[in-house]
Amino acid sequence: MNLRSFLFIPGDSDKKLGKADSAGADALILDLEDAVAPAHKAAAREKVAGFLKERPLATRSCELWVRINPLDTPLCLPDLAAIVGGVPDGLMLPKANGPPDVHKLGHFLDALETANGVAPGSIGILPVATETAIAPFSLGDYAHTPSPRLKGLTWGAEDLSAAIGASTNLGDDGRWEFTYRMVRSMTLLAAHAAGLSAFETLYVDFRDDAGLMASCRAARAEGFAGRIAIHPAQVPVINAAFTPSTEEVAFAQRVVQAFVDAGDVGTVGLDGKMLDMPHLKQARHVLSVATAHRPL
Ligand code: COA
Ligand code: MG
Repeated sequence: MNLRSFLFIPGDSDKKLGKADSAGADALILDLEDAVAPAHKAAAREKVAGFLKERPLATRSCELWVRINPLDTPLCLPDLAAIVGGVPDGLMLPKANGPPDVHKLGHFLDALETANGVAPGSIGILPVATETAIAPFSLGDYAHTPSPRLKGLTWGAEDLSAAIGASTNLGDDGRWEFTYRMVRSMTLLAAHAAGLSAFETLYVDFRDDAGLMASCRAARAEGFAGRIAIHPAQVPVINAAFTPSTEEVAFAQRVVQAFVDAGDVGTVGLDGKMLDMPHLKQARHVLSVATAHRPL
């Protein structure tokens, strides 16, 4: 299944965990990291482990992911030990420094899957690939170090600004400052270079549906496959924005048909415009995305 929406749920909140199943997200991210205060880490770990166990793989209506604590903290191994038996579909790895971190997490998972009788390689990994100052410098390396566990790349601005002592990551016009636009674009390119999906970072103003919709449409037009949500109300907006519209699907079908009708040629005219191979490739992409999503 193509994933459009990942909804964050703080792992220590019974109330929010109780709303998780009905949110309509393609995936949930049960958070053990920044949304959980230090004093509640152990309780969150137990709650998330229980949540997974109550929803065995075969019964899940959406994917269940867990954001673990970073590899270089003493919280990471206890997180993994507690949750692997519940077979999360994947783990979000925050503050990843690059592919070696994914490799290291993969080794931990190899061991813990074996210990827990979980099918080897079943748990995926989604690194947040821009949260440390060093991370952006190895984004291109993901393409050279393929791992079947890698399910995509996403980026984040808040931890990066904290890491570099920046008092803001936004310009006066409300847009990301250059450093954040740069790492966002690099994540997009790195994901595609590695044959992975790129996922847009969260939209913090969770009451602004119109702004979220416009921002998601722009992200999809740029090549992002989906987005992180922080509030249930954002999920339907994200799902809609990252689903090709009926008009887009109809146009893509016409493009493909135009090439079929023209026979063995590299370029055709449609509605008075020239189309060549990149247009055909994009049309096929739209059609494959449209069929890979759950219905809205
Ligand atoms: N998952 C599940 N339920 C959620 C939710 C979430 N992410 N966010 C809000 N809800 C629930 C609330 O508990 C509330 O339930 P109620 O109607 O029974 O009281 C309802 O949805 C409406 O919430 P609302 O009052 O609009 O928001 P809030 O002020 O309670 O919460 C946030 C705002 C931002 C704190 C909350 O959305 C949240 O915790 N988001 C996730 C944060 C996170 O995980 N961050 C880590 C990644 S950056
Ligand atoms: Mg963070």
